[in-house]
Amino acid sequence: MVDILRGKRLNPMDDKALKITSSVDADRRIMKKIVYVNAAHVKALKRAGLIEPGIASELLSALDKELDGYNLDYRYEDAHMSLEEDLKSKVGEMAGFIGLGKSRNDQVATSIRLEAREELLSLTKSVAGLLASMLEVSKSQGALFIGMTHLQPAQPITVSHWILNYAESILRTVERLKLAYRTTNISPMGAAALAGSTVPLDRLYTSHALAFDAPVENTIDAVSSRDFAIDTIYAISMLASDLSRMSSDIIVYMSLGYMDLDDRFVSTSSLMPQKRNAVVAEILRAKSANLVSMLFNSIEINRTLNTSYNLDLQEITPRLWSAFDEIVPMVEEMSSMIKGIRLNEELINRTAKDSLITASDAAEYISMKYSMPFRDAHHIVGEAIRKTENNRLPLAQNISGVLAGKVNASINQQDIEDSLDPQRSIFNRVTLGGPHPDQSGKMISNINLQLDKLNAWVASEEKKIEKAYELLFSKEW
Ligand code: ARG
Repeated sequence: MVDILRGKRLNPMDDKALKITSSVDADRRIMKKIVYVNAAHVKALKRAGLIEPGIASELLSALDKELDGYNLDYRYEDAHMSLEEDLKSKVGEMAGFIGLGKSRNDQVATSIRLEAREELLSLTKSVAGLLASMLEVSKSQGALFIGMTHLQPAQPITVSHWILNYAESILRTVERLKLAYRTTNISPMGAAALAGSTVPLDRLYTSHALAFDAPVENTIDAVSSRDFAIDTIYAISMLASDLSRMSSDIIVYMSLGYMDLDDRFVSTSSLMPQKRNAVVAEILRAKSANLVSMLFNSIEINRTLNTSYNLDLQEITPRLWSAFDEIVPMVEEMSSMIKGIRLNEELINRTAKDSLITASDAAEYISMKYSMPFRDAHHIVGEAIRKTENNRLPLAQNISGVLAGKVNASINQQDIEDSLDPQRSIFNRVTLGGPHPDQSGKMISNINLQLDKLNAWVASEEKKIEKAYELLFSKEW
């Protein structure tokens, strides 16, 4: 095998050393993107008058064919050299022209960015699908539910309100994905190894030809920055965290019997036939830890590096691809799983009453009705709860009793009973963003609007990219 890199100077590299330093596995994902980058580069060379029109045209046609695939071989170190070898075997020595004014350092950074931005867009589409499912479920789940703090029944909410809390959080992660898209969508091409070159290439042209927003200006930064990958994995980790927290909730709600999932998302035990285990949720929770590890790995690899390109950077790339590979099915699973949520309303209503989740409603009622400091009202209800635990009388009756000893005004026992009714409590809540169905309705419409905008943004970015790739192989210079 002729080694186009080591030429006549170096003896062959140790085979195991070659294997461990080769990036061919992670490069599979960017094979096409490397071809696009080379096409843009050939055009830039031609535009600068650095290669003959005939050669440029022949190289472009040959590159177009490379889109069908080329032989990857670790003995060439990576896909960049594999492509050059392949091209050489097809068009001969003229393939060597593509090396003028570029290095693998700017080429790899550019190719990874091209691939990552597309995967960011397709992940964003999956997230939009998840949000749409969440809205669908929210619309039909306005019934009473148990809001928890410290994993104990706390105050009445609705399932809709619970789901929308994650939808709102995931919408912020969509902003993180869009930020990652911005830091990704800039072009290193032309930076060459680190210091640009003596070749008069138009970096703005290559950036534009590949549908980037702009070049990464500083040539050292262009080849050495991988913050875009870290931004991406961070956004993905935050998304995974939300899926994990949601999964934990589902596991607990199932364990308490408030909720059940469709059979398609539970497994049973090989020994205990009664079991309905929320195994999908458990796996989503565990997988989110893998993603956080990938984030941590990437930050650590990046942190130690000196100026410009070091081969360490190559180890960040497979983490970026794995992050995408892990998160997409997670998002899709959550999206399908929540559609099958069923509630045990009878148990929820009973628990809501038995666990006194409206005690704070009664305290708020007393404080407002009798213009009493909330702390005093809180103590009155607390004292009544203690009495109830001892005398087993209804809480409303005990509250009236304690209250009668503290205020002169007349006491309306019915109002107190009403304030304690969990169903009414949902409708009594007036806070913006609270569990009142009107508020959920507003949140649903608001998120719907944002989803429309998001889908339009993804479609327009995809179109821009598609158009640029179409033009790349046209012989219009
Ligand atoms: N395979 C490398 C990567 O994936 C690119 C090659 C850079 N190699 C070099 N010796 N400068 O980042």
